[in-house]
Amino acid sequence: MNDLSGTPVSAPSVIHRADYRPPAWLVPEIALDFALSLDATRVQSTLKVQKNPAATETSQLRLNGDGLEAKAVTVDGQPHNDWHMDGADLVIDLPGSAHDLGIETLIDPTANTQLSGLYASNGLLCTQCEAEGFRRITFFPDRPDVLSVYSVRMAGDKARFPVLLSNGNPVASGDNADGTHWAQWNDPWPKPSYLFALVAGDLVANHDVFTTRSGRAVNLAIYVRPGDETRTDHAMHSLIASMKWDEDVYGREYDLDDFNIVAVSDFNAGAMENKGLNIFNTRYILADPETATDGDYDAIEGVVAHEYFHNWSGNRVTCRDWFQLSLKEGFTVLRDQQFSADRGSPPVKRIEDVRILRAAQFPEDSGPLAHPIRPDSYQEISNFYTATVYNKGAEVIRMMTVLAGRERYLKGTELYFDRHDGEAATCEDFVKAMEDGAGLDLTQFRRWYEQAGTPKVNVEMALQGSTLTLTLTQTMAPTPGQPVKLPMVIPLRTALFDRASGQHRGEELLVLTEASQSFTFDGFDALPVLSINRGFSAPVEVTAPVTAEDLVFLARHDDDPFARYEAMQQLIVRYLVGAVAGTLADADSARDAIGAAMGAILDDAALDDLMRGELLILPGEAYLAEQLVRADPTRIFAEREGLKRWLGETLKDKWLALHDRCLAVPYSLEAAARGARKCKTQALVYLAAADPAEAARRAKAQYDTATNMTDRQAALMVLCGLNAPERDVALADFHARFDGNMLVTDKWFSLQAGSLNPDVTEHVKALAAHADFTLTNPNRVRALWMAYAVNAQGFHKAGGEGYRLIADLILKLDPINGNVAARFVPPLGRWKKVDEARATLMRSELERIAAEPGLSRDVREQVTKSLEA
Ligand code: TRP
Ligand code: ZN
Repeated sequence: MNDLSGTPVSAPSVIHRADYRPPAWLVPEIALDFALSLDATRVQSTLKVQKNPAATETSQLRLNGDGLEAKAVTVDGQPHNDWHMDGADLVIDLPGSAHDLGIETLIDPTANTQLSGLYASNGLLCTQCEAEGFRRITFFPDRPDVLSVYSVRMAGDKARFPVLLSNGNPVASGDNADGTHWAQWNDPWPKPSYLFALVAGDLVANHDVFTTRSGRAVNLAIYVRPGDETRTDHAMHSLIASMKWDEDVYGREYDLDDFNIVAVSDFNAGAMENKGLNIFNTRYILADPETATDGDYDAIEGVVAHEYFHNWSGNRVTCRDWFQLSLKEGFTVLRDQQFSADRGSPPVKRIEDVRILRAAQFPEDSGPLAHPIRPDSYQEISNFYTATVYNKGAEVIRMMTVLAGRERYLKGTELYFDRHDGEAATCEDFVKAMEDGAGLDLTQFRRWYEQAGTPKVNVEMALQGSTLTLTLTQTMAPTPGQPVKLPMVIPLRTALFDRASGQHRGEELLVLTEASQSFTFDGFDALPVLSINRGFSAPVEVTAPVTAEDLVFLARHDDDPFARYEAMQQLIVRYLVGAVAGTLADADSARDAIGAAMGAILDDAALDDLMRGELLILPGEAYLAEQLVRADPTRIFAEREGLKRWLGETLKDKWLALHDRCLAVPYSLEAAARGARKCKTQALVYLAAADPAEAARRAKAQYDTATNMTDRQAALMVLCGLNAPERDVALADFHARFDGNMLVTDKWFSLQAGSLNPDVTEHVKALAAHADFTLTNPNRVRALWMAYAVNAQGFHKAGGEGYRLIADLILKLDPINGNVAARFVPPLGRWKKVDEARATLMRSELERIAAEPGLSRDVREQVTKSLEA
């Protein structure tokens, strides 16, 4: 069968990790010359190519392309005709083993709605090349193990593009007589094509200087659209702190004279670590107290650090192939988590990271798209920028820090950087360096790279005489393509508390390696209270013989703050799961225990408010759903809201007092003030559940007097969930007050789409037709539709309207931006976890999408896999 253009319609091609072969040709140098224009940019590329001595294969040179046409091809300066197109790729027959190649292409950045390759955003030109965007600019062996030294020249209209940036160092620039100007950038560090970047446009910069530990001055600049420069200070401070931290902790120094960041408003992801020229989504750069919440400030600090840290973990040592993605992403996420922990409160940061893991990664591991942190195959690599590769990838390396201890772990990373500097490495290289440098035996531990799924650990506890025996058993459910699982290495930080004294005798590290294994401890005259997986030392689910009273005990007395949080969560998870499943023996006393524990948290004067705020947050619906084989998501939602209402009523005086106390704390970015704002929000949330009228009054007052976005957004969030007259007034004010600020308008959309309001589906339909809504801006699409897709009352609405809306969105968005469209498939793919009636509706929407002939590879892969499993 052929489609209209005559290309054969074939089965989707699957790329396998096992098929890796070294590249047939290398490209030690590339010179790029851009004649810039918004809708017709001419790219002249000159490649020095040479046969790879390590290659085993063909002499043909395959240059990847995506939607490109070769305008001219030269070899060693002469026009060359011995080439042909193979699909989208250009294949050249070359007589010798080293040549200079010239290729000209012509591209239209304005027509590029996929935001991959060279595209126009708000009148400026920018690039996004990871993973396979460079082939949308010019023909090239677009794979991360081909490293080249880049020199880039660009010319364009000086009025339209006053700033011209690329990777590396600026070497020359000048004006032409015709109103155009040009700039030349050279990057001395060999890099893969996915790290290439170019930006041209009307930008202004916040400048600073960082002096490295060896005394070199680095010029720092954060480029934004004129007017936005007043909101770049926090990003700049975060950058400087990251540069210092990577020197102090990992011994990594920056390696160019310039480090530039550009913020753009149309961006598929959060940010991109292009060598010397990071490109960011504006939402991870721009902040001031009036427009950014405390959460936004934290996210900016984390993402700025993340991209900066890639300079070593990703750029100096890059990936051999895309199956190794976690080599750079998992490691860099861990590094940014460690940095943020050092900058703020380590336990609070740990709690936040575990919450993200449970909400986003655990469902991935138990669903149809489950994959190991190092996948074995893919159809479209963009679909593998997942919580598994990123966040579980970070957890896996974090376990190495637990096993080795900080000092030996850092010796391992040092060896890794030294050994593989300038190379395209593999996850195996990392593990080996960690074995050699940290002195670990990671033979069995490597299964964390191979097996998908979240291990479950069951604990049994027995006392015989004075000997305590803990018997740990691990299991892992099958995942697609992996029916049988082997035992993992699971490091569990553990403490055994004496009930009477409230003390334990020191933490132990239990390393579970077998399917079932016993650990014994002497000198006990009574069963202790078990505190296990402290600090969440392993990304697993633990079931342990800990009674509700024990959990209340741990929530109050555990000296590990994460364990306190975990005990509180467990207490609530057990109650809510029991309530949904209808298996609670004594619902009232279970609820009373939660009320008592939460009351104690509210009263505990020794707790700081940041930590208190964490302890007050109920377990998320996605995590609760993971605890149930199959459940009606609206039941989970209702039970969770029911508990919230009960806690709101039972502890009403305490919530009122908390809200009043925190309202009196003046705005600052100090931890105490941030903690007060977090608690203030929680107080309003509980009050809204218990006494909507009182909460609406308080929220409106908080909204009207707010001096900062944290307070204002929290108040509006609460109002959005209520059908109070204050709701519409505040929403209209918010929209008008921040008119023209895209990031704040995104908040306006997502607060409504994510709200507790029972009419949310009607609101969302109206918002999709709002003049400010557009499918071409990924932030706006996510603000409205991702908020809705995770809102049980909307997405899982009886009758399937929510599923239909998301499927409609996927079909409409796919031709515009397949990468972003594919991100909406996983919510529909969770059909096995919901009741049969809903599962049928979800599947039929997936089938409706699958029936569409022209789907992107991105959406096609996700939909097919979601239906198969
Ligand atoms: N490498 C980027 C990071 O720091 C991720 C990224 C940026 C990305 N742009 C992308 C991933 C586009 C997929 C598509 O994590
Ligand atoms: Zn990254």
